[in-house]
Amino acid sequence: MNRYAVFGDPIDHSLSPWIHEQFGRLVGIAVDYGRVRVPAGTLHAALDRFTAAGGRGANITIPLKTEALALCQRLTPRAARAGAVNTLSWDSATLVGDNTDGIGLIQDLTVNLGVAVGGRQVLLLGAGGAAQGIVGPLLDSGIAGVAIQNRTPARAAALIAHLQDPRVLVPSVGQHYDLVINATAASLTGALPSLPPAALRGAVVYDLVYGARARPFLHYAKAHGAARTIDGLGMLVEQAAESFRGWHGVRPPTAPVIAALRARGLGADH
Ligand code: ATR
Repeated sequence: MNRYAVFGDPIDHSLSPWIHEQFGRLVGIAVDYGRVRVPAGTLHAALDRFTAAGGRGANITIPLKTEALALCQRLTPRAARAGAVNTLSWDSATLVGDNTDGIGLIQDLTVNLGVAVGGRQVLLLGAGGAAQGIVGPLLDSGIAGVAIQNRTPARAAALIAHLQDPRVLVPSVGQHYDLVINATAASLTGALPSLPPAALRGAVVYDLVYGARARPFLHYAKAHGAARTIDGLGMLVEQAAESFRGWHGVRPPTAPVIAALRARGLGADH
């Protein structure tokens, strides 16, 4: 049987093996999917070992997404644009890198949550790898504009300049936003990104982080007038479903998997 795994560090608490096992059960495909701790700088050797042991694909998470990009012989357009790889597949000759994070977010927002994005004004918090990975798919989904705010303003300015799209701007005081997305790593350390509190009023607020770690920011957003707050559990499952489709040729149903994870208390209450 072909083997798959998620590579990253830390990796012990990754939900990906469970999610892929559920997908396999739902579509009737036997799936062998594990987790491998791979410290930064050691991905090449880890891939060689995994391939020798029957590995044919991998998901890539922190801190390896740009390291993976550099190893690939071929990139999908969305991986090239994101500047990061979260899904690898290979045969004997070619290592192919894809990125399913952005499409996972759009799927969760539009299909699972019924949040229309077309014509909406978006405030994107963060200008690192996660923000860069989702901004392209957001623009493709027909948003009216996206303002990028970052702790280090020069990094936001660099991303705005790189995107070369008139809809991508710096935030302006007093602007109303329909959708606020926290793509900073702040929630990973219990910190709150700074933002004009008025920006949250009436907005749908989404944190890419899921579960307990998303709660401080989502509670802050609710306290400052957010209409709706959502953690990234659905995005996690949707990006996994897109990877699964790439490897196995069938897109698994995601709703039962998201519901099961929320029932296990792994989502943030909202
Ligand atoms: P990732 O791949 O998770 O995006 P990254 O490329 O290191 O990781 O980017 C982390 C992002 O989170 C950056 O936008 C970072 O802001 P800086 O560019 O100023 O470093 C942001 N970030 C991390 N910790 C933060 C905090 N405590 N408050 C606000 N922003 C934070």
